Amino acid sequence: MKEKIRITEYAQLITEKLSKGILLNTKADKFNSMVIGWGHLGTVWGRQTFIVYVRQSRYTKKQLDAAGEFTVSVPLGDTDMHIWEVCGRMSGSDTDKVKEAGLTLEEPEVISTPGVKEYPLTIECRVLYSQDQVLEKLPEDIRTRTYADGDFHTMYVGEILDAYIIK
Ligand SMILES: Cc1cc2nc3c(=O)[nH]c(=O)nc-3n(C[C@H](O)[C@H](O)[C@H](O)COP(=O)(O)O)c2cc1C
Repeated sequence: MKEKIRITEYAQLITEKLSKGILLNTKADKFNSMVIGWGHLGTVWGRQTFIVYVRQSRYTKKQLDAAGEFTVSVPLGDTDMHIWEVCGRMSGSDTDKVKEAGLTLEEPEVISTPGVKEYPLTIECRVLYSQDQVLEKLPEDIRTRTYADGDFHTMYVGEILDAYIIK
């Protein structure tokens, strides 16, 4: 069962949980979840959006480019450290994270990417726009500290199509 929510009422909770890591889920070749610490809820082009940042090396990047949609899963309670380890340290390229992390998938409402029951606040998004970072435009200290290996982020602006809590 799902309880529909007004996502703006959860902005503070989402921001707090982001600092510990929430899940960005994709489904192209298979379902995969990765932990993200960067992201934000907001409005772009008059549409309610959730923006995420994904490095080039992530398996999630290939899936996101192929599927053009994603779900975001936010825990309501404490961070599950086993899910955190598996989804934030291992790659979907050689790991079945559903099995390894013990995730229970929930059928989506609008898109094709499921949510995760263990992290019940779910946001369904379709990619409206994506933009590779231009490293030359970043301040020198950030460029050298975060991108010495050249593994830059792509920003994905996802239009929020549905939001609910899995019960
Ligand atoms: C707390 C935390 C926050 C993270 N935030 C991001 C992020 O915002 N963007 C990103 O590309 N990687 C982030 N990562 C790293 C990915 O979760 C990690 O590399 C993951 O194994 C990638 O999985 P994948 O290859 O299956 O996509 C974060 C990891 C942790 C532990």
